[in-house]
Amino acid sequence: MSISLRRLDPTGADHEDLVAFMTDNEFPFHVVPRPTRAQVESWVGEGAYRDEDNDSFWVEHDELGRVGFFRLEDLSDDAPLFDLRLALDFRGRGLSREILRAATDHVFRTMPQVNRFEGQTREDNLPMRRTFLRCGFLKEAHYREGWPVDGADPVASVAYGILRRDWETGTVSTFVWEDLA
Ligand SMILES: CC(C)(COP(=O)(O)OP(=O)(O)OC[C@H]1O[C@@H](n2cnc3c(N)ncnc32)[C@H](O)[C@@H]1OP(=O)(O)O)[C@@H](O)C(=O)NCCC(=O)NCCS
Repeated sequence: MSISLRRLDPTGADHEDLVAFMTDNEFPFHVVPRPTRAQVESWVGEGAYRDEDNDSFWVEHDELGRVGFFRLEDLSDDAPLFDLRLALDFRGRGLSREILRAATDHVFRTMPQVNRFEGQTREDNLPMRRTFLRCGFLKEAHYREGWPVDGADPVASVAYGILRRDWETGTVSTFVWEDLA
């Protein structure tokens, strides 16, 4: 299996496909689980898919074709975060590990100034959390009740990160949580 990222143009050639992707699929672990066309159009207008902080890509599989969407955020901070969304048909098929590895390779190979690559998700998004661990990310934060949920109690937001030196050496370095105890 081979995964590639193809940069997409949110205001040009890829606009309609982007709106269709965001409105045809459900994202139960996102703050907006079922975006409307108006919401996606407004995000495009705000630069959420491409501006100095954000850049977006289609995730393409050599046999299955387009399987999802990937966005880099906070690019001007030199420690980008990401958003990964597979189309419904391609979830639960074990694709995420290769995708996050390809995305991490992309970040560290094409952005020499970047030393850290980060991701955050809800505590109950077990597939994403397992994917982080499979790809050499370390859990670095657990923000209790940090993720608002519409009509329900908030859940924790969990943050993971990978360092360039760990990516280079294939290791997962750690730290002492209670370093003042
Ligand atoms: C989160 C997401 C990217 C994961 O990708 P995926 O291809 O569906 O996940 P996989 O099938 O590779 O499963 C990843 C791991 O989670 C495990 N898993 C899957 N569903 C699970 C569940 N309900 N409970 C526990 N573990 C589960 C798998 O067994 C696998 O574990 P392993 O590596 O030990 O074998 C994908 O489901 C998705 O796009 N979801 C919607 C958008 C989203 O939530 N994105 C995250 C925002 S950053």
